[in-house]
Amino acid sequence: MDLRIESERLFKRLSKVGWTIEDCSLIAPMTLEINMLKKEQDAIILSHSYQSPDIMYGVADYIGDSYGLSIIASEKKCRKIVFCSVHFMGETAKLLSPEKEVLVPSIQGCSLAESITAEDVKMLRKKHPKAGVVCYVNTSAAVKAESDVCCTSSNVIKIVEAMPQKDIIFIPDALMGKNMMSMTSKNIMLWEGTCIVHDKFSPETVHEVRRMYPKAKILAHTECAPDVIKEVDMAGSTSQMLKYVKESAENEFMLVTECGLGDRVRAENPDKKVVGTCNLCPYMKGIMLKDILTALKRPRKEQVITIPESIAKKAKATLVRMFELEQIK
Ligand code: 13P
Ligand code: SF4
Repeated sequence: MDLRIESERLFKRLSKVGWTIEDCSLIAPMTLEINMLKKEQDAIILSHSYQSPDIMYGVADYIGDSYGLSIIASEKKCRKIVFCSVHFMGETAKLLSPEKEVLVPSIQGCSLAESITAEDVKMLRKKHPKAGVVCYVNTSAAVKAESDVCCTSSNVIKIVEAMPQKDIIFIPDALMGKNMMSMTSKNIMLWEGTCIVHDKFSPETVHEVRRMYPKAKILAHTECAPDVIKEVDMAGSTSQMLKYVKESAENEFMLVTECGLGDRVRAENPDKKVVGTCNLCPYMKGIMLKDILTALKRPRKEQVITIPESIAKKAKATLVRMFELEQIK
C-alpha cells in the first residue's frame, strides 16, 4: 500500500477528530510499518479508549474498556499482544494468555494501581480476617494475587453482591467504593486510592455545563467523586458511557472522564456533539506510535511483561473468579 492510500485511510477516521490530510500523511509511514510488522509477527494491538486517536484508529485492532480488552486478550488466537494502555492492563493480558508474548509500548503506571501494594493487602486481611477482598482491575498482579476476586468498572456491583461475605474490603479506589455503597447492602471498607484524572472533576464543572448546554446529557465515570456522580444523568464505565451515547436519541453530551472517550464519540458518532471539558491521563497518553514501533521491532526489556510464576498463578485465579461470578444471574 502506498503512502497516499494510507494517508487517505487515516483521514477517513481522523478527520472526524480534527486531523488534516497533512497531519495524516505525517504519521502514514509509521502506521504502515506498524501494521505490516503486526501481520508478519502474528500480533494484535489492543487500545484502551483513553489512547490518542492516531493509535485507536491508525493501528489498533480492538478498542475497548479494561473488561472487554481482557476478554479479547484471553480469546484471540495470535502469538503476540501489544497492549496500548497502562502497565496493569498488560499484566492482566499476560495473566490470561501466559503463552503469548505481551508487550506494553510504555511502562506507565496509574495512580490507582500505585496506591497499594501486596503487603498492604496482607495487612488489611490481618485486620479484617472475615472480610472478602475485591480488587478493582486497576491494580498490579501482585495485589491481585493477594485478593479474592477482581472487578472492573462495568461489573463492580455485580461482583461485590455475588461475594459470600457480608464485609467487603474494596481496593484501591475510594471514590468508586463510596459510589457503590449506596447501591449494595454489603458492609464496604475502603482504601484511600484515587484516579488523578477523575478526582479532578467537581460538581461546579457539571453545573457550569448544565447552564451553558441545558439539553446536554451528562455522563460520568464511576471513578469520579460521589458529589459529581449525584449531579449527572448516567454513571458507568467507559463502554457503558459509549453505549449510552450511541443508543440515545439526544445529540449533546458531556463526558466527565478522560478526553480519549470524547474522541471516540466524535470519530464513531459524527452526528453527536461532545460539549464541556475533559481531563487527560498522563499515564494513558504516555504512548506514542514510535513506542509501538520499538515494541514490535526491538522491544526494550521493560516493554515485555513478565510475572513471577508464584504471583501469576494466584492473580489469574482472582481474574477467573471474576469471570465466574460475572456469569451468575
Ligand atoms: P474502564 O475503561 O474499565 O471504564 O476504566 C477506566 C480507566 O480509568 C482505566 O484506567
Ligand atoms: Fe489510572 Fe485514572 Fe489514568 Fe485510568 S485514567 S490509567 S485510573 S490514572
